[in-house]
Amino acid sequence: MNGNNTPFVMDNKFVFLIFGASGDLASLKIFPTIFELALQKRFTNDFLVLGYSRSKLTKKEFQDKFRKSIQNKFDMDEYFEKVLDDLVQKIDYISGEYDKLEDFKICDKYIQDKIDSNLIISYFAVPPFLFKPIIQNLSSIKNDRDFRLIIEKPFGEDEQSASDLFLQISELFCENDIYLLDHYLGKKPIRSILPLRSRNRALNTLLKPEEISNIQITAYEDMGVEDRIGYYDDNGVIKDMVQSHLLQILSLLTMNIPILQGSNDISNHKNSILSSLKFEEDEKNISIAQYENYPTKKSTPTSVELKLKINRQDYYDVPIYIRSGKNYAKKHTYICVELKKFEFQDEDTPPNRILIEFYPEEKISIKLVDIDGVLSSINDIEISDSLSCEGDFCLPSHGVLFLDVFKKDKRYFLSFNEIVSAWKFTDTVTSFIKKNNIKTTKYPIGETKMNKLDFKWYEGIS
Ligand SMILES: NC(=O)c1ccc[n+]([C@@H]2O[C@H](COP(=O)([O-])OP(=O)(O)OC[C@H]3O[C@@H](n4cnc5c(N)ncnc54)[C@H](OP(=O)(O)O)[C@@H]3O)[C@@H](O)[C@H]2O)c1
Repeated sequence: MNGNNTPFVMDNKFVFLIFGASGDLASLKIFPTIFELALQKRFTNDFLVLGYSRSKLTKKEFQDKFRKSIQNKFDMDEYFEKVLDDLVQKIDYISGEYDKLEDFKICDKYIQDKIDSNLIISYFAVPPFLFKPIIQNLSSIKNDRDFRLIIEKPFGEDEQSASDLFLQISELFCENDIYLLDHYLGKKPIRSILPLRSRNRALNTLLKPEEISNIQITAYEDMGVEDRIGYYDDNGVIKDMVQSHLLQILSLLTMNIPILQGSNDISNHKNSILSSLKFEEDEKNISIAQYENYPTKKSTPTSVELKLKINRQDYYDVPIYIRSGKNYAKKHTYICVELKKFEFQDEDTPPNRILIEFYPEEKISIKLVDIDGVLSSINDIEISDSLSCEGDFCLPSHGVLFLDVFKKDKRYFLSFNEIVSAWKFTDTVTSFIKKNNIKTTKYPIGETKMNKLDFKWYEGIS
């Protein structure tokens, strides 16, 4: 975020080194993001995008792969083609093994012959078991240069594996150089939570735990697992959606607001929430289900409804409900905070509510009861585009986060501690499911609502 909203441009020379450049993540997310940054003229100096993987591709074949991924994704016009032609000149490829230092030395020499740059941004688009050898080899060729490592979630598969991973990383690199990316933190509405809370004392006063009756977070997706089945089948919705994306939203909503908002301040305050999360082990507090015609025979849950709490004196009496599922009728993501009522108000009077909508609308509204007893919005705060748009071009979440890496701004990346705390919580949920043999029920594709717990969700958002 630029204080004066002047678009940030990268005016240093840099190398963007993509490990696993032959794979899906590279083609689906990384190449298009680099293209979008180029469209926005964010690179004003020389740079090199270097793909690295084992596949024996020529430079031309890799450039064609890059070009194809852009042409598949965008509605190309003459201007787009021109930007792409220029960009492709900066794209190069080198084939190597991930566990051979010799290959990394060759790669390093190749880079140094091509560009005189001190900044190497490495993106890990490889399966997690390759993180360690790559990090080990990078640390051997690093010297005094500015190496920034971007690693995308999932970080491990439970508390133990995440702790092991971070221990290995921190033996070789400083945590400061590691950008642990959860793309939800590149989404504009999620990045708006803290600034809006910090700038509006009235809003934040309403969000004090003593004023809150309950917090609800809903994330319906309208797609199934599609081609992510290999990953998804071993993980399911709790690890895929709750562990990082939704707990991050919850922590931004409920954390104390630090006066200084550097990345460590924000992370420590988020972690104070994440490390206090508690699942009370009772079948009443969880429901899991799977959509009909799920592609494998496993009972991997594709939807979950969960009640949890923040085990701290201030939030102790505030129940939190989270629900998320795939293949629902509509994609819909929102937070509803229900505020307490006066003791004398009857049951039929609706509570005041604060709604933070992420999708399809992006806005915040405060719902008050009018003199006829009807709940109405007193205001809608549209969430500004200033964080991610430049002229006609708005960046997707990866683009916003890549810019943060260029700026060395880690406020919207995760810390080791946050991730371990979040796993610790989800581990209690997944082991409860296992221990108590909680059944995964079925729901039809296109289901409209998830409402299995003994709790009345706010369904007033159409
Ligand atoms: N795909 C997505 O949309 C997505 C979204 C979020 C996170 N992620 C995460 O990002 C990472 C990469 O995802 P991806 O879908 O791009 O994975 P992928 O296509 O399976 O793997 C990426 C590349 O890694 C190399 N590789 C794969 N398996 C290997 C093995 N057993 N040994 C050595 N090299 C191997 C391959 O390149 P070479 O054989 O050419 O070396 C492959 O092209 C994963 O951790 C995934 O969980 C993916």
